[in-house]
Amino acid sequence: MDRIGVVGCGLMGSGIAEVSARAGLDVVVVETSPHAVEAGRTRLTKSLERAEQRGKVDSAAEVLDRIRVVEGLGALADRDMVVEAIVEDEKLKVELFRELDEVVTSPDALLTSNTSSIPIMKLAVATKRPSHVLGVHFFNPVPVLSLVELVPSLLTAPDSTQRARTFVEDRLGKHAIDCQDRAGFVVNALLIPFILSAIRMVESGFASAADIDEGLVRGAAHPQGPLALADLIGLDTTKAVAESLYEEFKEPLYAPPPLLARMVDAGLLGRKTGRGFYTYS
Ligand code: NAI
Repeated sequence: MDRIGVVGCGLMGSGIAEVSARAGLDVVVVETSPHAVEAGRTRLTKSLERAEQRGKVDSAAEVLDRIRVVEGLGALADRDMVVEAIVEDEKLKVELFRELDEVVTSPDALLTSNTSSIPIMKLAVATKRPSHVLGVHFFNPVPVLSLVELVPSLLTAPDSTQRARTFVEDRLGKHAIDCQDRAGFVVNALLIPFILSAIRMVESGFASAADIDEGLVRGAAHPQGPLALADLIGLDTTKAVAESLYEEFKEPLYAPPPLLARMVDAGLLGRKTGRGFYTYS
């Protein structure tokens, strides 16, 4: 597993590309437009230069040399494993898996998704190789957080899951946990209703965002409060994950509150747009 492909060079895709290249792997990242390619390269360069300044990598330039950011899925033809990290939209992901199945030539190659909440089976059955499709769910920021959830579908071959585990643990040095193919897997099925409850508290005037976050940081030793975390995840992604959970379980606790929907409509997506529950410079 030496040639890795990543689709999407946003928050997560760039992180997955970075950790793979830092592990010495050859990485191709695909984006949708020249502008997105440029934005992806800038994101990778900045992150690796920060890592170099902090002494986490010897040479940012050397790591960047192992990453190509390009347009067009054709560049993924020779990959041993592809990690999909495009927006959390089921229709787009299903279409992408259909295309990846056509483009990636090796029948042994793994087609994996970093989705937070979309059932892996929906992606697997869009391909002619469901035995080689599984969820490999990283956490944000990828270079910092060590967890990866491995999510085989009912049709994933045990050998595929094992190869993904070897990649994640032995090549990337991360820690894998096993999850069933249910929307949200383990972490988001617990975390998203918690974040939504905090948003409902703000919405009802129960407490301010700052006080809710301070409460959880000082009172429950969380490294950051739920609203700061929602801003970090991205409010669009938070809402999309909540919708998938609600679609799967039909439980009111997963339903996105109106305030979250209005903030997304307004483009207040958190850190990535400079404003969410907090303002960022
Ligand atoms: P993002 O919005 O930062 O990045 C998505 C990128 O995908 C954008 O750069 C976009 O141009 C690109 N893209 C969209 N369609 C594409 C296509 N057809 N081909 C190539 N590139 C395409 O989103 P983010 O936050 O990186 O999320 C990506 C995935 O990772 C989602 O499935 C999300 O649920 C999951 N995820 C997100 C986490 C987070 O904290 N934001 C944590 C763990 C998983």
